[in-house]
Amino acid sequence: MSLIEFRDVTFVHQNGVKALDDVSLSVEKQELVGIVGENGAGKTTLVKHINGLLKPTRGSVTIDGNNTRDVSTARLARNVGIAFQNPDHQLFSDSVENEITFALKNFGFEGALIEQRIRWALGFFGLEEYRKSSPLILSGGEKKRLTLASILAWDPDVVVLDEPTVGQDAIQKEKLGEIVRLLHSTGKTIIIVSHDVEFLWTLQPRILVMKQGGVVGDGPCATVMHDRPLLEGARVSQPQLVQLYDELRTRPDQPFLDLSAARSWIEKGAT
Ligand SMILES: Nc1ncnc2c1ncn2[C@@H]1O[C@H](COP(=O)(O)OP(=O)(O)OP(=O)(O)O)[C@@H](O)[C@H]1O
Ligand SMILES: [Mg+2]
Repeated sequence: MSLIEFRDVTFVHQNGVKALDDVSLSVEKQELVGIVGENGAGKTTLVKHINGLLKPTRGSVTIDGNNTRDVSTARLARNVGIAFQNPDHQLFSDSVENEITFALKNFGFEGALIEQRIRWALGFFGLEEYRKSSPLILSGGEKKRLTLASILAWDPDVVVLDEPTVGQDAIQKEKLGEIVRLLHSTGKTIIIVSHDVEFLWTLQPRILVMKQGGVVGDGPCATVMHDRPLLEGARVSQPQLVQLYDELRTRPDQPFLDLSAARSWIEKGAT
C-alpha cells in the first residue's frame, strides 16, 4: 500500500465550489513530488487533505493505511507537516520562539531536545535574532521561513510545502533547495506546491499537473516539463532550460539539468 492514497476524491467547499473533482493518486514513501497548475486548480485544497484538515466530500484519503476520516487531525499532524501558502494563516504565537515550541510541546518533545530543535530551526532559517520578537514584525519572507522552521523542527515524515519560494531572495531559495535535498536524502516524503518551475526544475521531482480540480499530468519532471501543450493547457510556464533545449537544433537526449550542463554541451558543439 502506498503512503498517501487518494481514491476518487471530490471536495466541495461550503460555498458550493468544487475544488477537487474525482482525484485519484498515490505517493510512495520517500518520493519527492511537485504540484503545479493554474490559480484555483485545487492544489492547496488537495494538500489540506493530506493532514486531514479537509476531509473528502466523496471518496477517501488514506495516509499510511489510515483513512483520514478515522484518525484525529492531531495524530495525522505528527507525521504530516504542512507549511501553508499564507503564513498569516499559520502563525499565531506571541513570539518566534513560542511559535516553534508550541508544536514541539504538543508532540511530546522535552526540555533539552526542545531547545536543541529551536536552535537548529532558527539557525538554519536565519531567524536567531528574532527569537524573542513577535512574528508580526517579521518581513513577508521571514514569516514564510518561520512557518517552514516550525514544521521542520518537529521532524515530520511527510513534509508539504505550499508555495515555499514566494517572497524568498536568491540565497534563501538556494538554501531551501538544499534543505529539500537533505530532507529527501534522509528518507522524508516531500510534496512541494509551486508556481516556481525554475525552482522545481533544480529538484527534478515527480510532477503532478492540476487543472480545474483534476490531475491532468503525472510523470518525471523532465518528461512533464517537456510537454508544452499539457503545460500551456494548465497555465504552467516551461523552465527556461527546457525552452533553451527545445530551441537547439542538435541536443542531448534529455533537457539540461543545470546551466553548467547546458554550457558544456553547447561548448562541445561549438568547437
Ligand atoms: N475556504 C474556501 N471556501 C470556498 N472556496 C474555496 C476555499 N478555498 C479555496 N476555494 C476555492 O477552491 C478552488 C481551489 O482553490 P485552491 O486554493 O485549492 O487553489 P490553488 O490551486 O491552491 O490556487 P493558487 O495557485 O492560487 O494557490 C478555487 O476556486 C477557490 O476559490
Ligand atoms: Mg494554493
